Amino acid sequence: MGKDELLEILNQSIARELSVSIQYMWHHIMAKGIESAEVSEIFEKTAITEMKHAEEFADRLDYLGGVPTTKPTPIMTGGSIEKMLQDNLKAEEEAIALYKKGIKISSENDDTTTRRLFEEILEDEEDHHNTFRTLLEK
Ligand SMILES: [Fe+2]
Ligand SMILES: [Fe+2]
Repeated sequence: MGKDELLEILNQSIARELSVSIQYMWHHIMAKGIESAEVSEIFEKTAITEMKHAEEFADRLDYLGGVPTTKPTPIMTGGSIEKMLQDNLKAEEEAIALYKKGIKISSENDDTTTRRLFEEILEDEEDHHNTFRTLLEK
């Protein structure tokens, strides 16, 4: 338990970040139509942020002696812009729940650095969640 649980949640987080990084970048590529211009740019920018999150989690996992996964969780692509935004909103909600759990597990393991990493990335995910939600309301 303990440290294993911490390594496990870091790897789950990496898998998620890899997944949304690909999902958002492919949405950027696939978004078509007049209303897609603004949204497409947001997808691209967010995809790059998610890949940086994957790097940060992987760097931390490596430091703690774990082996970072290369396998993403299932990727949702295609459909209308609205469908893409709904898939992305759901992904952000899942990330928020997972990273809150990460904060808790890090605290239980007295790992302040990992806790801070989860907190910083959680803040980004809440921003993304807000962005996608606002776009859906337009
Ligand atoms: Fe992320
Ligand atoms: Fe995100």
